[in-house]
Amino acid sequence: MTQLTYSAEELLREHPGLEPHLIGDTRVHGGMLPDGTYQPPRALVRERALDAWTDALRARGRAPFPADASLLDGVRAVNPDQHRVLLRNGLGRWFWNQLTVTGKIEARGRLLADASFPDLQPVIVEDVSEMAVGHLGRGLLLAHGIDEGGQPELGIGGHDVMWFLARDLAFGDDTHPDVEPPENIARPEAGTRFMPELPEGIEGLLSLLANLLIIEFRAELGFAEAQAVLRTPGLFAGGDDRAALAAEVIERIRTDEAIHVRSLCLYLGEIESVTFRTLDGGTVAGRELIGRFWDGLVQWATVDQPKLNAERVRREVAEYIATHPDAARVQAEFDAAA
Ligand SMILES: [Fe+2]
Ligand SMILES: [Fe+2]
Repeated sequence: MTQLTYSAEELLREHPGLEPHLIGDTRVHGGMLPDGTYQPPRALVRERALDAWTDALRARGRAPFPADASLLDGVRAVNPDQHRVLLRNGLGRWFWNQLTVTGKIEARGRLLADASFPDLQPVIVEDVSEMAVGHLGRGLLLAHGIDEGGQPELGIGGHDVMWFLARDLAFGDDTHPDVEPPENIARPEAGTRFMPELPEGIEGLLSLLANLLIIEFRAELGFAEAQAVLRTPGLFAGGDDRAALAAEVIERIRTDEAIHVRSLCLYLGEIESVTFRTLDGGTVAGRELIGRFWDGLVQWATVDQPKLNAERVRREVAEYIATHPDAARVQAEFDAAA
């Protein structure tokens, strides 16, 4: 019999015998296998459980939510060649800020570990005790949140700290003043109830999972671009070897994120496969609930929001380039690299 129910302790369990994962003197999560490859944190049982739940979902004739490359569409604000133009002209603060902001956004993911979310079972007709969505509050969201924001209380950094370390490997310490993430561009539909027949907290959780899937899936774009910039010879004060190690640290983050994307696709696939109880005593198919808002979410994330963001960034980069003594030439090079 395949195991389909797990305790939180099992879902958080680490691989045995790992070397601590150190970047410089700083301990971060995961560890190194005897052959020197990186092992993501809390994955010994978690990955096996995801396999088992995925097989069980397929055995019921359903499948994980199909997230595909179309989710990566949308105009990009600053491409790797444009980052290189800025860096070569002594305007490295833009890229430095991007690495800092990415780390701070990762830190916000700790919310998944710190907030409490409603149990889905009371609103689902089917028994979810043998599904991933039956384990969200029993280890899965906790593991996910700690992956993002680390365990500062234990002196173990998560993705936030890994981005800051990657940045400092490439640039050296304290190269630029600290920076906060820009304010989110609000979606016009923000606050709209798409599932008024469900308790608000349940809609909030379903909507969070769907939004998170898109955010985590699209984060790949920025990760790959940052690595391409870091792997460019001669751009960083820390030297090429340290910049290459920074790119390797981001590769380890990407390895961890693959587990997140996979988990979220599974959760949404399960949600689509079950029936929800409505507040008025009726039922509604999970597939209908997700279908109501998924396309709008994708339109926002892959078309509207990237366009608004690119416009804002273009203005801000132009202001930054204007601080250069030879601003017109740099701006021309920047535009030519678009
Ligand atoms: Fe992350
Ligand atoms: Fe993640």
